[in-house]
Amino acid sequence: MSESFLSETLPLIDVDVFLSNPLESEVVLEECRKAADALITYGALLLHDSRALEDDNAAFLDLLEDYFDQPDAELKKDERPDIMYQVGVTLENTEKPKCAADEPCLQIIARLDPAERPLDISGHHPDPKCRFFWKMGAPPPYETQYPALNAPNVVPQAPHINDKWEETLEKWGTVLKNAVENIAEMSAIGLGLPLETFKDAGKYGPHLLGPTASDLRKYGKKNTILAGFHTDLNCFTIHGRSRYPGLHIWARNTGKRIPVRFPPTGRYLLVQAGKQLEHLTGGLIKAGFHEVVVNEATVQTIGKRKITNPGRPCIRISSTFFWHLSSDYDLAPIQALAARARSLLSDSTVSGAVESYEPMKVGQQVQKYAHDHSNSDSTLM
Ligand SMILES: [Fe+2]
Repeated sequence: MSESFLSETLPLIDVDVFLSNPLESEVVLEECRKAADALITYGALLLHDSRALEDDNAAFLDLLEDYFDQPDAELKKDERPDIMYQVGVTLENTEKPKCAADEPCLQIIARLDPAERPLDISGHHPDPKCRFFWKMGAPPPYETQYPALNAPNVVPQAPHINDKWEETLEKWGTVLKNAVENIAEMSAIGLGLPLETFKDAGKYGPHLLGPTASDLRKYGKKNTILAGFHTDLNCFTIHGRSRYPGLHIWARNTGKRIPVRFPPTGRYLLVQAGKQLEHLTGGLIKAGFHEVVVNEATVQTIGKRKITNPGRPCIRISSTFFWHLSSDYDLAPIQALAARARSLLSDSTVSGAVESYEPMKVGQQVQKYAHDHSNSDSTLM
């Protein structure tokens, strides 16, 4: 990977190019290779998608701000602790940063230049963020070894939220799902695989729209950790533009903390690679480490929004969508990609050891991850 490819800005992939040209055209192949290279180098990419309307993102953010602005007693009605919070709301200080008690992860932090390290998670404090889980997967038409809990999605009761909840979540969630499935197709092509390789593997995945909320009135001080340093266990995670900056990612090759900057307007989304994609590619694509914190840009945005939007609650919403592989899918490295991963790692400019990725069912991987990390980000199984 040449140094010139590395930059402080994430590569921008245009899904429109993929959707509006013949699959075999050079312009499509070039965009697909760009997507695959971005995931290999950064574990993340920005994408442009004309279907991601700013009005739909704004409607989603407005509704979630109003939802999380409700009193705790109202939010508690939407908690489902008996089913491990797999649907409905998870209130603040419940989810713990997985890395804090994970030795290999702590070693990754220790190897970073001190100036590039994430904020210190060694206190093991739970993240001061709330979350809402809304299931968006289709149940498999076959008998599964990993039956998902059959709990229905939770629709909040307050009238000003209830009447538009399902429509708004489904609408924006579908935009994110369609975009991430196109990136699954594009990255497969870019890696030299058939288009449907990843998408089919996730056809019956337990996908989740899992927006998070951080109350910046309580947690708006600079250097507050909103979500501690971690990777996601699923295959791809996709986000819309948040109104407040604060997401930092680490590209595998640079060891640099990269503050994610969306273009200020326009139809853009952000995709990150998760552990299932790392496993499937034999480590050619690594799950991207990330954190969400209050940084200088967050503080400035809080100040600006107080003036421009004085009536709105100062709550940072992230419209996270977790795209999973199907639980019964046999997760094993694709040999050609694993070979590329080994040759990449033999290049001294690329950090990281060759890891082994044991074949297992996706369902086992999820259970193992959930067991190793008491509370995980992309599922609470
Ligand atoms: Fe995450």
